Amino acid sequence: MEKKAELHYEGKVFEIPVVTGTEQENALDISKLREQSGLITLDRGFKNTGSCKSAITFLNGEEGILRYRGYSIEELAEKSSFLEVSFLLIYGELPTQEELAKYTNDIDIHTLVHEDVKSILDGYPSKAHPMGVLSSLVSALTAFYPKSIDPNRSQEQINGTIIRFLAKLPTLAAWSFKNRVRQPIVYPQNGLSYTENFLHMMFSLPTNNDKVNPVVSNALDKLLILHADHEQNCSASTVRIVGSSHASLYASVSAGIAALWGPLHGGANQAVIEMLEEIKADGGDVSKYIAKAKDKSDSFRLMGFGHRVYKNFDPRATIIKKAADDVLKELGVSDPVLDIAMELEKVALNDEYFKTRGLYPNVDFYSGIIYRALGIPTDMFTVMFAIGRLPGWIAQWKEMRESGEPIGRPRQVYTGATERAYINMENR
Ligand code: SDX
Repeated sequence: MEKKAELHYEGKVFEIPVVTGTEQENALDISKLREQSGLITLDRGFKNTGSCKSAITFLNGEEGILRYRGYSIEELAEKSSFLEVSFLLIYGELPTQEELAKYTNDIDIHTLVHEDVKSILDGYPSKAHPMGVLSSLVSALTAFYPKSIDPNRSQEQINGTIIRFLAKLPTLAAWSFKNRVRQPIVYPQNGLSYTENFLHMMFSLPTNNDKVNPVVSNALDKLLILHADHEQNCSASTVRIVGSSHASLYASVSAGIAALWGPLHGGANQAVIEMLEEIKADGGDVSKYIAKAKDKSDSFRLMGFGHRVYKNFDPRATIIKKAADDVLKELGVSDPVLDIAMELEKVALNDEYFKTRGLYPNVDFYSGIIYRALGIPTDMFTVMFAIGRLPGWIAQWKEMRESGEPIGRPRQVYTGATERAYINMENR
């Protein structure tokens, strides 16, 4: 029987249907609220507002649960691969052996980008941040694949765009980095795994063609799995709302990359390392920075701490923290900022300010330490997040298009001037 809620307002009673999801979450369906009552809702930052029904990812912030299409992040991180997880997110099921082989091959043969991308890259100064370069190169893909501009084309056309996107993003990312360090670009090599190919394009030089260390490529594959989707976060919501205007997948994800760049979102992984470096340079006294984070008159925030949904722990941070330990040991790397990070976590987790606000390390707190151990430069950390999140953005955009979502257009409560007559210049 359909559940309902009642709204009592100005002597009237309005019935509001309640929608229940497969994990027994309940939501007021207010799609007819304004029509019935003249009321709208107001919810800064959409902290209590669901934007859609989705079957892709389930999060439970209180219990620290994260599942992609019903599979736990812990099992996927341990047993799956990033390409297999990307297939799961986008198409809804784990691939068969044949499906995965075809999918991998289709991606493998589309990793090259048009040679004219090099002329676009040449236009960027070396100090250009790779996230800004990546967002614009992704948007520029519409120039090379004009048929992708119309998202209402055949399923085959859309699938071709999806495969091309997964194949070319690592190439664009690696070339953005090569532009930054003013090194010659390195072309993708067929037959390498997804992460091996990316690392090959990032770090190979004409003078060496060293094989990629499997410890590094495996660790990166696990990190990409952990970043692959996260339901209606800021950048995924951006991709959905831009796509709801029937903008192309490339244009929608280009906007998502821009949203991810912010230090409160994906840009936090870069900000965490910069914060840890600052603490190290300042003598390593974590208590001073804990005090700054608690001081309301100080704009300093403990980057990598806190989350809109997770209020006990971020399951990804738990996995990444262990992986950081393992990778540094396997690579024989000791990184003093890891010790500072562990100390910061220990002090914060015993501090009432953080405990009462449910502020715990999130996915970004430890990821930068691994990226650094893998040789990834700091301002490429958020680019790594974007590569990991691409399948999630694609899955969210595809679900939004296939479910025929209307164009996203929120309402507002107007608080500006009421009507007034124009004032001629001489009377101002
Ligand atoms: C990601 O949404 C997702 O799923 C995102 C993500 C994904 O996979 O897509 O998980 C990836 O973006 C992780 C978050 C990375 N960002 C950071 O690490 C930046 C630092 N953290 C924050 O700024 C903050 O915690 C947010 C942005 C993550 C969440 O902010 P909310 O939910 O809007 O919470 P809030 O800003 O309202 O804070 C609530 C209270 C406030 O104090 P009071 O007003 O109650 O006294 O907690 C305080 C805040 O001042 N607070 C912090 C803090 N984060 C929140 N105080 C100090 N340091 C912090 N990091």
